[in-house]
Order: sequence, then C-alpha cells, then structure tokens
Amino acid sequence: MKNTVTSLQEMKQRGEKISMLTCYDYSTACLMEEAGINAILIGDSLGMTMMGYSDTLPVTVDDIIHHCASVSRGLKDTFLVADMPFMSYQTSVYDAVKNAGRLVKEGHAQAVKLEGGASVCQQIKAIVNADIPVVAHIGLTPQSINAFGGFKVQGKNIERALQILEDAKAVEEAGAFMVTLECVPEELATLISKELTIPTIGIGAGNGCDGQVLVYQDMLGMFSGFKPKFVKHFANIGEEMKRAFSQYDAEVKSKAFPAEEHNFKIDPEVMAAVESAASTKEFKLSLDYETELA
Ligand code: KIV
Repeated sequence: MKNTVTSLQEMKQRGEKISMLTCYDYSTACLMEEAGINAILIGDSLGMTMMGYSDTLPVTVDDIIHHCASVSRGLKDTFLVADMPFMSYQTSVYDAVKNAGRLVKEGHAQAVKLEGGASVCQQIKAIVNADIPVVAHIGLTPQSINAFGGFKVQGKNIERALQILEDAKAVEEAGAFMVTLECVPEELATLISKELTIPTIGIGAGNGCDGQVLVYQDMLGMFSGFKPKFVKHFANIGEEMKRAFSQYDAEVKSKAFPAEEHNFKIDPEVMAAVESAASTKEFKLSLDYETELA
C-alpha cells in the first residue's frame, strides 16, 4: 500500500501505529522499503551520522538534497520526508518556501519537516499554501542546542509542558499534517496525541504517540559509544561490520581472499598466445616506445 499524507492520517484514526526511520542512502532505502516501513526521514541528523559533525547546525540544504535524492531512488510506497536544516527557514517566510520547494523539486521529498512551534507557524502556513505538506517538530529541537544548553528532556515542569502542548496545537492549526515529539515525558506526549487530530511521531516520547521514529544507525547498534535512553538496539550491526572488516583485512594479508571461486578464467590457449606474444622482442620494444611517449 502506498503511504501518503492521507493514509498516514487514516492510520491514526484507525489506531494503527506509524513506523518511521531516518535514512540517508539508496541501498538502505531499498531495505526499508522492502521491510514495509511507512515513512522515511532524511534527518539533519545526517550531519552527525554521515558527516561526523558534533551537532546538526552545519548541515546545508544541498546536503539534505544530495541524500534525499539518493534515498528517493530506492522508494516506491514509503513516504519521504526531508528535514529543513538550520537557517533554511528561520530567516524568513520567503526562504522557508523557497528551500522547501528545493527539497521537493531537487530532493524528491514528499513533505518537509521543520523544528519549532508557535514561532514558525508563519513558515508552516506559507509552505502548506505552496502545497508542500509539513511535519512539525517540537519538544527537544536539536537545532536549538545552543539555546537549550544541550540535548535535554523537555516539558518536565508545568510552564514548559504547557508551552509544548500550545506549540502542538499551534502547528496543527497552522496546517502541519504530522508532528514529531522529541524527548518529552511519556504522559505529556500521550496527552498531546489525544488532543491533536494529526498523528504524533515520538522519539523518546513513549508509546502513547501515534508512531515512532529512530535514527537507523542507533537502532541497528552501529555506534559503540553513547546510547540515549530512548534507543533500543534491534540488532548489533556495528559489531558484525567490525568483525567482517577485520576478517577481510586478515584474509587479504594471508592471501585467503580472493579464493578460486572469486576468480575469472581465460581459455588456456588464448593465455599461452598472450604469454608468447608478450615475450617477443617486438612486443617489449612497443612497450618501451609507449613508455617514452608517456
Ligand atoms: O534529524 C533527525 O534525525 C530527526 C529525528 C531525530 C526525528 O529530526
């Protein structure tokens, strides 16, 4: 079944959970499509997972377009959302619409996601008016890391919890068709999910959300360092990759790889003729001549 804005909203109405993962490349996109994941996010987390930055702030619209277009070529039924990176929409409503348009035209995204609540409602309205579906992102918004003073759970006191609830209502009112809730207490996320008619997609926001999103390297266990509390390792791919890389290294050095079954063969008669021609004086002279010319 093809996932669309409407089908994702109908899933909420039926009480069916929505699965979403980040993705940044064609091969992984093909696997997620085959696995039946509902939606893929080209998250600006690619700045950290793919580019090695310590946060998402340096990511550009061109970076997102590059990865989004690659992923789009692997998808058929999975819905594709592209993140709007830092300063691609905060600067003006004009920039927001122009950059959202680029993500759709050049990246082949079907929707864009941007961080912020009431403060970005003008941008959300304008992008939706340009017929580009918008996913909002509230709670912990990693592009505000310097304002928040780090990656911290949001909405633990009355004031901030009410502000997140108000942001959720504001982005729905502005026309967002879905909203990501990042790192907010489970009870608050459940309340917001009940209050809104649009689906909520949680990351570190508990099971009361209408769907879940995770960064795929996190859920595959590809990083051995820090594991956030909300991440579950569904596999230990990082260990398996390391094991395969060291086995490859050892087999290249011991000449165990490539083995007979990996080699291409030539007809022995053809090879004998090649060897005989290669040993003639004329062939060696022509090789010297070519070397001189080079
Ligand atoms: O960039 C990203 O991967 C995200 C998810 C964490 C929701 O925004």
